[in-house]
Amino acid sequence: MHDGLGQVTTLPKPRMERSDGYLKLLSFVVSNARKGEIMAIENYSEMVHLMPDTDAKIETVNQAKEECKHILLLEKLAARLDFDVDDTMVSRNGSRSAPASTRPCARRTCRPA
Ligand SMILES: [Fe+2]
Repeated sequence: MHDGLGQVTTLPKPRMERSDGYLKLLSFVVSNARKGEIMAIENYSEMVHLMPDTDAKIETVNQAKEECKHILLLEKLAARLDFDVDDTMVSRNGSRSAPASTRPCARRTCRPA
């Protein structure tokens, strides 16, 4: 956006009130998505040597590069909405358990009778 003096200014971040629990949930979802993108990069990278010809190898490398862009997008989203990407929320064995405070049915009022 231009300020009329030829200077480019940045727009302010939209300010929306979000609860801590909501931000933790967003962090959990984005952190897991980011981990998935990292796994995709690793898988595509390992697939390269299995490809039968150079064109297929190049295409596989390019696909790994595309996954890198997804990581950057997720990190930009976290920065824009002002929450951290937290790799500690993602378990090493791939199982994903949301923090107790973000699990809807962990609250007493949601438990079945
Ligand atoms: Fe991706």
